Amino acid sequence: MLLIKNGRVVDPASKTDAALDVLLDGEKIREVGAAGKISAPQDAEIFDASGLIVAPGFIDIHVHLREPGQESSETIETGTRAAARGGFTAVCCMPNTKPVNDNASVTRFILDRAKIAGGVRVWPMGAASVGSKGEAIAEIAGMKEAGIVGVSDDGKPIATAKLARQVMDYCRSLDLPVIEHAEDVSLAAGAVMREGVTSTRLGLRGMPAAAESVCVARDVQLAELTGARLHIAHLSAKASLEQVRWAKSRGLRVTCEATPHHFTLIDEDVEYDSRFKMNPPLAAREDREALLAGLADGTVDAIATDHAPHEPALKDVEFDRAPFGILGFETALALALEQLVHSGRLSLMRMVELFTSGPARILGIESKIAAGQAANLTIFSLDDSWTYDVKESPSKSRNSPFDGRTFKGAPVATIVAGRVIYQR
Ligand code: DOR
Ligand code: ZN
Repeated sequence: MLLIKNGRVVDPASKTDAALDVLLDGEKIREVGAAGKISAPQDAEIFDASGLIVAPGFIDIHVHLREPGQESSETIETGTRAAARGGFTAVCCMPNTKPVNDNASVTRFILDRAKIAGGVRVWPMGAASVGSKGEAIAEIAGMKEAGIVGVSDDGKPIATAKLARQVMDYCRSLDLPVIEHAEDVSLAAGAVMREGVTSTRLGLRGMPAAAESVCVARDVQLAELTGARLHIAHLSAKASLEQVRWAKSRGLRVTCEATPHHFTLIDEDVEYDSRFKMNPPLAAREDREALLAGLADGTVDAIATDHAPHEPALKDVEFDRAPFGILGFETALALALEQLVHSGRLSLMRMVELFTSGPARILGIESKIAAGQAANLTIFSLDDSWTYDVKESPSKSRNSPFDGRTFKGAPVATIVAGRVIYQR
């Protein structure tokens, strides 16, 4: 047994913010009680959480682990080790591996590798279409049986409205969320950043905000038509957020996520440095403001990293030749604290919700610190100062725009199924 003593428990699901002890017994939480009041057995291990926040285990619903197929950029083992350092107890890996996770045998392979890696839970997303090619619908029911928790052609949008409708129809009957990488590829063709004054100044091809919001509008309409659970990935544009707000006001089952890089950086930060290149690209100042407002008012349901490792040989090239994507795990909590909590924009409770019960609700699962619940916890500090050095990352890749940045607050321990899998 493991007794977590004297921490400040912040649990959005039960609206708890109090000094409590938490006793873990194997894979389950056994008891939660006033600090000092739990009678733990003599041989229980003690974790002193004085001065620390004890939260439900963080869930990252959008990550790329690159296995199978691109193991020189990341593996399930290195990626989940980086996730654990970031305080995540579960991650949902996108299907754009090689081969694509578009059938049950690839799903099973991923789950097998995750078991060997130990530690962080890995919940695979299955492709919407065969090979994510946007032609034939994938074997979604078979993948669900094997363990997928959602469906996406991430990296690309679901190619056509007709296919999106079909996928939503299927997923509605299987009760799976459809996760959309919203992009109108005709508007985005050839672009490497957001269209605007900065793209003009740098002489780089830009895509307009509408490249995203046009696709969000399409999908919201189809969510209404089909009744499906639609989740918009890495939402970056104000106009997209307005679509989601409208959908929610109509009672549609539409949710969205925001990444730390989109709520921290803007297009003006891009200076021919491929560590600032991702898709969707860094947006305009007013988009970031809208995202911050949406994180505060509940329009945004979750923070997700879109952790997208690319090995140096691929990423350290000219801006327009580099692949899209940046690392996300180890800076996510610190950026959220910096931008959302220390800045006074969000309460700590709301920030924790965006990492825990928010993503859990999208997946249709529970996330709560209470007796009988899974013993998955993220313990973090609020204000000790540290500097991110990407060279120390367990990830195989180094593509972070936040290398060298100094933060206040960090993950201190990550506990999965009652086991401390990471401790600072
Ligand atoms: O920046 C991105 N990287 N956006 C995506 O949609 C895909 C991802 C990747 O797989 O690298
Ligand atoms: Zn994507």
